[in-house]
Amino acid sequence: MSKIIYHGHSFVEINHNDTVIYIDPFITGNPLCDINAEQAKCDYIILSHGHADHFGDTPAIASDKNVKVIATAELSYYLDAKGISTHAMNLGGSFEFPFGIVKLTLAHHSSSTPDGAYAGDPAGIIINFGEKTFFHAGDTALFYDMKLIGEMNKIDFACLPVGDNFTMGIDDAVKAAEFLNAKTVIPVHYNTFEVIKADADDFKRKIESIGRKCIVMNPGDSVEL
Ligand code: NI
Ligand code: MN
Repeated sequence: MSKIIYHGHSFVEINHNDTVIYIDPFITGNPLCDINAEQAKCDYIILSHGHADHFGDTPAIASDKNVKVIATAELSYYLDAKGISTHAMNLGGSFEFPFGIVKLTLAHHSSSTPDGAYAGDPAGIIINFGEKTFFHAGDTALFYDMKLIGEMNKIDFACLPVGDNFTMGIDDAVKAAEFLNAKTVIPVHYNTFEVIKADADDFKRKIESIGRKCIVMNPGDSVEL
């Protein structure tokens, strides 16, 4: 039994049995986040890329030695140097963790750490929990190979950025949902800042018009995976 909890921006928590997974835990400086940094507690952090609005509070949360950070190679090595426990992966690779199989996909974006260090390539994240498959696109432009990701994975839930300016906007994200063949779509990466304001209801209407489900989550909302 798994559930998805949305914490605003691209910060998504997944509880799978007794395992807590944070994806892109941007808490400090995230005006939409419903939890504070002191409350943050998880077993794994998975990072899509190094930008501050995704990397977020990772060093503080992962100062707890029981937390493992899963990220692309360069970002992992950067965290290793800070004494953080990591598991380095790279695009196209998958690895079976105790909670499920993580695979990193392409994402067309850029990546560096908040202090400007090289952080390798940005990624999308597929987690196969056995009966259900979850996809977090990270920050990305629309690209045609999303079709291939959809062909190779039966995606139940997809978190897609819709805020435009830095990533896909609404219409590109609707096309992405179609390419990915995602059953249910959750819009993320919008309304956090003025420059990424987006109308989630408009997105929902457009997703439903292509015969798919859209769940607009407010920070703190959860949904069963
Ligand atoms: Ni970014
Ligand atoms: Mn971002």
